[in-house]
Amino acid sequence: MNRKKITVRTLKELYKNNEQIVCLTSYDAQMAQFADEAGVHLILVGDSLGMTVLGHENTVPVTLENMLHHTAAVCRGNKTAFVVGDMPFLTYQASITQAMNNAARYLQEAGADAVKVEGGVNMAETISSLTSAGVPVMAHIGLLPQLVLQEGGYRKYGKTTEEAEQLKKDALAVQEAGAFAVVMEGVVEHVAKEITEMLSIPTIGIAAGPDCSGQVQVVNDILGLFTSFIPKHTKRYVDAASVLKRGIKSYVADISNGTFFENGGE
Ligand code: KIV
Repeated sequence: MNRKKITVRTLKELYKNNEQIVCLTSYDAQMAQFADEAGVHLILVGDSLGMTVLGHENTVPVTLENMLHHTAAVCRGNKTAFVVGDMPFLTYQASITQAMNNAARYLQEAGADAVKVEGGVNMAETISSLTSAGVPVMAHIGLLPQLVLQEGGYRKYGKTTEEAEQLKKDALAVQEAGAFAVVMEGVVEHVAKEITEMLSIPTIGIAAGPDCSGQVQVVNDILGLFTSFIPKHTKRYVDAASVLKRGIKSYVADISNGTFFENGGE
């Protein structure tokens, strides 16, 4: 497929034309190439890297160096999709200077098109400073995985009137601060719909129902690479884990039996 590099302007056009924005995570050059060639608009190098690639239990241990390393790999494999690098826990919350210096590394060293930060009203000043300086920012509200230790786990947000109101305030604050889009994670469907209708920037949903301006999924979930359990909000299109395991088993058997050189090995 021949397509032009996707920019914030392309994403705005898609949104204006009511076309769904297709987002998917990727963590390496190979997967980024597949996602790009399949027509994904926005590749998110999520800090879900911690669980999908690095073997951590949550996103808290993910470092800036981890993220920059994988964001650079994704950018090398990608040609046209818009690449957003997730800023990990405590790499943008300490001060605006910290956020600016670290965001600069995503754009200048890793080659990302934008950064993502978790938070709403509490992050508005930081987002405003970044966007004023020319850094495209995708915000993230609702379930914030980086707060897992403080929250004691993961759950749905927006069930009570107070929480729904807070989510609306968060959404308006990040829009006002200049975010070009906002991820809504784990938000009850009708609240996600109301927020989407209220905003003039795209909402990208995950576990937030069908009414957002686009959807994001973790690539390991949709390909069936993550085998421990199937998260409720995802959909498995292939069982890649079984295919990969079968391939590796065949290799093990081939070498063990001395048949590797009979059928194609050299
Ligand atoms: O880290 C990640 O993959 C994310 C998405 C789930 C939105 O933040």
